[in-house]
Amino acid sequence: MVVVSPIPIAKEKIKNKFRRILMIMRLPVLLALLLLLLSSLLSVRGGESYAAISCRKHTKSLVDFGGVGDGKTSNTEAFRRAIANLSGYAADGGGQLVVPAGKWLTGSFNLTSHFTLYLDGNATILASQDESEWPQVAILPSYGRGRDAPGGRFGSLISGTNLTDVVITGNNGTIDGQGAYWWDKFKKEELNLTRPYLIEFLYSDQVQIAYITLVDSPSWFVHPIYSSDIFVQGVTILAPIDSPNTDGINPDSSSNVRIEDSYIVSGDDCIAIKSGWDQYGIKFGKPTEHVSIRRLTCISPDSAAIALGSEMSGGIQDVRAETIVAINTQSGVRIKTAPGRGGYVKDIFVKGMIMKTMKYAFWMTGSYNSHPDTGYDPKALPVIQGINYRDIVAENVTYSAKLDGIKGDPFTGICISNVQIELTENPKKLQWNCTDIEGVTSNVTPVACDLLPKKEPAIDCPFPTEKLPIEDVELKMCPVP
Ligand SMILES: *[C@@H]1O[C@H](CO)[C@@H](O)[C@H](O)[C@H]1NC(C)=O
Ligand SMILES: *[C@@H]1O[C@H](CO)[C@@H](O)[C@H](O)[C@H]1NC(C)=O
Ligand SMILES: *[C@@H]1O[C@H](CO)[C@@H](O)[C@H](O)[C@H]1NC(C)=O
Ligand SMILES: *[C@@H]1O[C@H](CO)[C@@H](O)[C@H](O)[C@H]1NC(C)=O
Ligand SMILES: *[C@@H]1O[C@H](CO)[C@@H](O)[C@H](O)[C@H]1NC(C)=O
Ligand SMILES: *[C@@H]1O[C@H](CO)[C@@H](O)[C@H](O)[C@H]1NC(C)=O
Ligand SMILES: *[C@@H]1O[C@H](CO)[C@@H](O)[C@H](O)[C@H]1NC(C)=O
Ligand SMILES: *[C@@H]1O[C@H](CO)[C@@H](O)[C@H](O)[C@H]1NC(C)=O
Repeated sequence: MVVVSPIPIAKEKIKNKFRRILMIMRLPVLLALLLLLLSSLLSVRGGESYAAISCRKHTKSLVDFGGVGDGKTSNTEAFRRAIANLSGYAADGGGQLVVPAGKWLTGSFNLTSHFTLYLDGNATILASQDESEWPQVAILPSYGRGRDAPGGRFGSLISGTNLTDVVITGNNGTIDGQGAYWWDKFKKEELNLTRPYLIEFLYSDQVQIAYITLVDSPSWFVHPIYSSDIFVQGVTILAPIDSPNTDGINPDSSSNVRIEDSYIVSGDDCIAIKSGWDQYGIKFGKPTEHVSIRRLTCISPDSAAIALGSEMSGGIQDVRAETIVAINTQSGVRIKTAPGRGGYVKDIFVKGMIMKTMKYAFWMTGSYNSHPDTGYDPKALPVIQGINYRDIVAENVTYSAKLDGIKGDPFTGICISNVQIELTENPKKLQWNCTDIEGVTSNVTPVACDLLPKKEPAIDCPFPTEKLPIEDVELKMCPVP
């Protein structure tokens, strides 16, 4: 798996170094001395530390606030009390709440600034299925309504508004949304409010979610909105492939987002980049930009590895995706939009992608006609421009490309280079079906449509050479609580 934790690597490096020195010396006294040194070094670094944007001075356990990890007792009040208490340390080195081994049932709670939620490897936070444990929260202004129901929405299991410097991490502990209850109500159309998300941040910055496993969210898993400087690393996200709307990570009207080394299996898009819905998103006007996605593995038979849209009315710009693996997934990096959305999707760069068993290698849809209400402006046409894909191999593909722009509003500046697609036993006859698009291809098999003529001499589609500032941010090593 691609999930990489820096902890064992640091430990191995030190071990190997000393092993080499030991082999040369071979003196019993030196050996004893070195072993002593080694053990003291390891207790400071090695397995005793984790990587985070900030370390905290004050650490408390959920048990200190009356938490009971039996999987039955509600810990909603314990979480709320603990976080209220630890918020008192924001100006004094920050607070860290440890969730020890056990199963901790809880309703929704809010985080605080300069704060870390740390899950032990054997800790599971279990989301309550008692609706009274979930407060109703305001609808998102850039959506104008809840997505499941026109009224309000449930607060997310773990959320934060107006925060700075927040970490959710642990030694691969689990947050389980127990979503089956909500999926069932959604399918039966029994919801009056929109389902909760698992983790949501609004108007926040410096947020890190790392080295944890998230399972069975009621709807989307991770939703930063109106936020910036978002780090997601080493996260495993798992939901049944037929669960409704279980998108993995949805950066929404947010900037400077870095997602890496993550593994996602879901019933909807593994990553969906968004920025508000039709007239509400246009009015709010906040784009998602400067997004880096690296070393992502996705399995999603009915959705995309990375979707851009369909809600993109505030604009999406400067997204870089590198080293992406999609297996048994409907499409790779897909654009979804429609007349009425307005906004734009510009400067998208994809480099280094492996796909296996895909319905579509490339898919762009200009008629994704889901609208919040009848008040949208059909003349609000999206601008889709500068979409670059390079260095891609795909096998067992049904349909190389279905690229549908909008009549009178073509998608332009499409560039596809160095792509080898092998087809499934029963491929579509027309492999490249293109309408209302403009661009070029180079070194692509099977040969693309006439609207994407072959460039001679061959070219590589662009990919930015300068890193985003957020890609250069170094993490600190913090002591494991
Ligand atoms: C947090 O709890 C400690 C006792 O563990 C107490 O001394 C302190 O006053 C509490 N702080 C807040 C802000 O509640
Ligand atoms: C969390 O914060 C939001 C926004 O302020 C609020 O509406 C909601 O009630 C809070 N949830 C809890 C559990 O306090
Ligand atoms: C989880 O618990 C098991 C059994 O007690 C133990 O062997 C294992 O080391 C623990 N794992 C972590 C990550 O703490
Ligand atoms: C967040 O900040 C805005 C602007 O300062 C303020 O209007 C709003 O009440 C704050 N909300 C919360 C939940 O803190
Ligand atoms: C974390 O746990 C998940 C679920 O058990 C597992 O699939 C994944 O490989 C683990 N990740 C790491 C880094 O150990
Ligand atoms: C929710 O909607 C149903 C109809 O779908 C209605 O019967 C019920 O009264 C509503 N509940 C609330 C709390 O509004
Ligand atoms: C190839 O794709 C088809 C679906 O088009 C699937 O049924 C089959 O299992 C795949 N074969 C391999 C070898 O993965
Ligand atoms: C090609 O795409 C157009 C537009 O979506 C569609 O109407 C047509 O049926 C497609 N043709 C084939 C052969 O799939």
